[in-house]
Amino acid sequence: MASELEKLRGDLEKLIGELYAGEHKILVHGEGRPGARVMLVGEAPGEQETLQQRPFVGKAGKNLDEFLALSGIDRAELYVSNAVKFRPTKLSAAGRVVNRPPNQEEVKLFLPWLKREIALVSPELVVSLGNVPLRALLGPGHVIGDVHGRFLEADGVRLYPMYHPASLIYNPALRPVYAEDIGRLADWLRAQK
Ligand code: URA
Repeated sequence: MASELEKLRGDLEKLIGELYAGEHKILVHGEGRPGARVMLVGEAPGEQETLQQRPFVGKAGKNLDEFLALSGIDRAELYVSNAVKFRPTKLSAAGRVVNRPPNQEEVKLFLPWLKREIALVSPELVVSLGNVPLRALLGPGHVIGDVHGRFLEADGVRLYPMYHPASLIYNPALRPVYAEDIGRLADWLRAQK
């Protein structure tokens, strides 16, 4: 599967290079081993992820790592990816390049590639982080506040939605909820071994 994933990444690089010719979009691909039991799917890479070419290595990634460590989950055992593989940006009022949430077209463009990536990694459980991957995989209209911490099914894929780890930065009151959801995930992992 490793070489099929490499081929998928190569094909995606080619497509994005053609679609965004002249814009030099840098893609951040998924990280981890095919066959991982759990695949995390975030929203899109940010600045640090793009610089380091690895998902979840910036501020949100630090939150994620902290909670994974607390619940005894080894990140090296997971496959970590994003719904959109390049950093969506805009110019701030001050003229700086800043992150923005991916738009519908971007999510739609990457969705078939995400689905192929999921099929190749073939995890027992996909954990969506935040509303963007939740809606991409489960359908529009779903709200993370209603479905987080529940084991669902989306198109034959077992799905466990969690809040996005960046939401803990803006809303620290979510920390106990996040700890509970990730604890349930850790219990599930241990129970299935
Ligand atoms: N936020 C995401 O959704 N993904 C990343 O890789 C980093 C931050």
